[in-house]
Amino acid sequence: MKHDVKDLSLAAQGKLKIEWAGRSMGVLKLLGKRFAKEKPLRGITIGACLHVTAETANLMLVLKAGGANLALCAGNPLSTQEDVAASLVKDYDISTFAIKGEDTKTYYKHLNAVLDTHPQITMDDGADLVSLLHTERKKQIPELIGSNEETTTGIIRLRAMEKDKALKIPVFAVNDSDTKHMFDNRYGTGQSTLDGIMRATNMLLAGKKFVVCGYGWCGRGLASRARGMGAHVIVIEVDPIKALEAVMDGFSVMRMRDAIKIGDIFVTVTGDKNVIALSHMLNMKDGAILANSGHFDVEIAISDLSKKAKAKRKVRPYVDEYILEGKRIYILGEGRLINLAAAEGHPADVMDMSFANQALAAEFFVKNKDNVKVKVYSISKKMDSEIARLKLAAMGITIDRLTREQKKYLTSWQEGT
Ligand code: ADE
Repeated sequence: MKHDVKDLSLAAQGKLKIEWAGRSMGVLKLLGKRFAKEKPLRGITIGACLHVTAETANLMLVLKAGGANLALCAGNPLSTQEDVAASLVKDYDISTFAIKGEDTKTYYKHLNAVLDTHPQITMDDGADLVSLLHTERKKQIPELIGSNEETTTGIIRLRAMEKDKALKIPVFAVNDSDTKHMFDNRYGTGQSTLDGIMRATNMLLAGKKFVVCGYGWCGRGLASRARGMGAHVIVIEVDPIKALEAVMDGFSVMRMRDAIKIGDIFVTVTGDKNVIALSHMLNMKDGAILANSGHFDVEIAISDLSKKAKAKRKVRPYVDEYILEGKRIYILGEGRLINLAAAEGHPADVMDMSFANQALAAEFFVKNKDNVKVKVYSISKKMDSEIARLKLAAMGITIDRLTREQKKYLTSWQEGT
């Protein structure tokens, strides 16, 4: 079985980590049991480019239980958990290509190794496999039944491709599911981003001016969790509705040019580039800390900073100090996803639902393989609600149901005052 991981001797520790995460993944566990019985993915080759974490490992086990042949590579050069990668290979016989800190060449070698297995379904977190399939590996497109996309950034790319008629593969927008973005993006990013910042810096957040750039689901979660830690949270947002929401959620909202003068910690979660430009950094306070939790490392203009800075040194793991016109600017995790670079990504409790969506989307593609269209699919409301129901059940929570009379009232118009 082909693989490229750092150290197979880490497997025992990785296995414990995978099992620990599995304890909080009740929905996946139920799916795994059904998949083991029904084998809905029998003989299907799945190629995944996802963050190689204990949570992803649990998804791989469910897909394998469903009968799939698997190959997995890292969704980001810094997000791999080496022990988990080792365990996937050694304990679970899953072809894994992922080394934490791999350079861009190795990153692409690993993507290509996954595509070399000729997957019929791909799973992306940022559309890298789909991009390769549409550029350098076009010949493989007819082999594809469909592709799942995990993240907002990837779906933006795919919708742009669909609009331009450049999309050639049916894709499933996992991020569109309520059981994905309302939980993973909000509570997952909220908690894991703070976790990454705290592990990297060991700084107290209470009393700090904490600037959140972007008030989508990730920004909302991050702002609310930072407030919970006692930080004074400032939100930067270009969308007037989201900005208004942030105001009414009780946050200070201002322009970047005003926030840079007072902020202690800045975190980008926008999905766009150059959100923190060199011109901003030049006007920040001495000692400002900058981190990114958006998918790509484009949100902070690090290459401009590198060119202009007089000196750079690593002061702690995942903390680089730049001297910029006599001031110190700290960049965490090289501007890559700080929650996965310096911490362990989102907790298993939320990845449970995200990955239940991944598994069900794969099953959907196989079941409908003869009539899926080249378009961006989203989950049905019914299936989304079912995942939430299973999650509640796994948490031991029972909710009420509408009476027949209440249901009728909600679908009729005759009853008034
Ligand atoms: N994305 C964010 N957190 C993650 C995790 N724990 N595993 C896989 N993908 C993630």
